[in-house]
This record gives sequence, C-alpha cells and structure tokens, in this order.
Amino acid sequence: MNSAPLTPKQRERILRAATSAPSKHNTQPWWFRWDGDDLEVHIDPDRMLVFGDPHAREAHIACGAAVFAARLGYASLNLGTEVEPFPDDDRPSFVARVRVTTAAPDPRFETLYWSLPSRRTNRAPFKDAAIPPLVLEYLRDAARDEGTWLRVIEQEPAYERLLTLIREATGLEEEHLREERAHWVDAPDATHRSDGIPARSLGPLPHSPTGAVRDLAVGRDVTGREAIAFEAHPTIAVLESRGDGPVDWLVTGQALLRVLVTGTRYGVAASFANQALENADMRDEVASEAKHYGNAQMVLRLGMGVDVPPTPRRALSDVVAPKDEG
Ligand SMILES: Cc1cc2nc3c(=O)[nH]c(=O)nc-3n(C[C@H](O)[C@H](O)[C@H](O)COP(=O)(O)O)c2cc1C
Repeated sequence: MNSAPLTPKQRERILRAATSAPSKHNTQPWWFRWDGDDLEVHIDPDRMLVFGDPHAREAHIACGAAVFAARLGYASLNLGTEVEPFPDDDRPSFVARVRVTTAAPDPRFETLYWSLPSRRTNRAPFKDAAIPPLVLEYLRDAARDEGTWLRVIEQEPAYERLLTLIREATGLEEEHLREERAHWVDAPDATHRSDGIPARSLGPLPHSPTGAVRDLAVGRDVTGREAIAFEAHPTIAVLESRGDGPVDWLVTGQALLRVLVTGTRYGVAASFANQALENADMRDEVASEAKHYGNAQMVLRLGMGVDVPPTPRRALSDVVAPKDEG
C-alpha cells in the first residue's frame, strides 16, 4: 500500500468517482470534506426533496452510493478503506467517513472502478436477450457482499402484482410531487444546469406501458419524445435491507452501486421504478412480498442495455468544503 499523502490528482480521482454516483432526480445531495487522506461524506439539506423524499431515505441511499464509488476510487490507487457511518453525533450531516486502512483493497474493486464511468440509469428499451443466469448470480452476490439482498422477482403472481402496484402508485401520485419533480426533470433551465435530468435522459415512452419503465415526466409533454416498443418481459428486482433507518439506507446505497457497476461490467443496464416505494402503504405491500430482509428500498428494471447519454454533474469545486468548514 501507498503511504505517501494523496496528491491533488489522486484526490480528484476519488472525488470524480464519488460524484458519479446515482441520486434521485440527479439532486446530488452530498458534499465532501478531506480530513487528511480520509474522505468525509456529508448529506446536503439544501438538496432534499421535501415531498418526494420526506425522510431523506433516498438521499441517504445516494450518499451511500457515493461512499461506495469513493471506495472504488481509493482501490484504484491500491488503497484499502473502511466506512464509519455517522461518526460524529455533533455533526448530523456527516453521514460517513471513508477511512484509509493499512489493508489491501478488495481485489475485485479495481475492475469495478473501471466500470464506473459507463454506468448510467438507462431508460431506453433493453435488448430482447435474457440476462445470463450466472450474471444474475453475480448481481445477487454484489448485494449480499454489501449486507443487503437483491430479490429477483421471476414467478407469477408476484411479478404481475408488483407491476400492478407500480401502475397504481403512478395513478395515485399527487400533483405537488409532480411539481417538485418538474424542478429537476426536464426543467426549463436544464441546459445550464449541472444537476437534474435533461430530456435526453428520459428515454422514449413505451407503446404499451407495463409499469416497469418509469416515465419521470408523466403528465407533461416533452418535445421530440416518441412512443416505441420496449422489451416484453424485463427482469424486475427489489433491493432489500435488514433494517430501515439511516444506517441501513447508507448500506443500501453502497450495495446499490455495487450491484449496478457489477451489472455494467457484464452489459447489464438498469433503471428504476420506485413509485410504489414512495407511498408508505404500498411500500409495505412491496415489502410483504419480501422473503428475506423485508425492507424494500429500490425497485430495479434490469436487462441487456444499449448506450445512452450521461447526466451532468456539479463541478468538484462546488462539492468540496474548504478545510476549515464542516
Ligand atoms: C435513491 C434513488 C432513487 C431513484 N429513483 C428513480 C426512479 O424511481 N426512476 C428513475 O427513472 N430513476 C431513478 N433514479 C435514478 C436517478 O434518476 C439517476 O441516478 C440520476 O438521474 C443520475 O443519472 P445516472 O444514474 O445516469 O448517473 C434513482 C436513483 C436513486 C439513487
């Protein structure tokens, strides 16, 4: 292991990895601070979705994903890390410290690091080819290795029941949620923004919506968006955690990114259909299908993907606190 302090270029590499993480509506609800070579990951209260994520569950998941991505960045520099969740009671925004250890990094992390830049949330149709069973097993392993459970829903009636719940949740969505989303999704100032989801990342509309593909601009007209055929039978999976508090959400985020980049490595793309999890009663129903941990955190649509464009990210200078802040 390398014992010299990190150079500015190495720090940049770790931060670029961390900020490539997915976040709901691309809010990027995080900021970072260096403490020596350790990275502090903070949740940003100004980037919370008051209606869409009232308990900050999904913001914590995003920060967890940033934590895992940062660990991959360290591993690419041959540095092992460990994660200390909520290390300081006096600073509640401080969700995790990624601490450099003397141990070698997990040998699998470096390969995963190289998949980070090509990971995307992919709302385009997938190829009509099944995910190879061995690759699905790798995805389950990735979730398990981070202390969560990826429940792939293959059997009826559970498959159709989940899709029905998602469709119902879409129908019940209240107007204030859609209004809040409109600040982030295809927003009027999207071309000047370094956050949010631009129209080009919304994907086309499915000819016959099943619920598996979420239309983030539902109820709005987006110019140039066509309706086309999607894959007939996407793989649907639910990521479950052991508990359902902030520490579990952070764990879920780490697992989520591990699952996603493992998929990227094998050509598996993902998008999400979390509508039913945003409604407390329906979330319980999704969880009641859960045979393992029972806390449903994310609903994933998985398949063999084609390339789609990236979403923007804020400049690193906007997400790193100066030394004396925090
Ligand atoms: C906690 C969480 C919830 C998300 N929920 C959805 C969702 O329900 N539907 C969707 O299409 N994308 C969802 N996303 C994906 C984000 O929109 C996406 O990560 C963000 O726009 C950045 O794009 P990227 O993943 O391509 O980097 C979610 C991401 C996270 C981390």
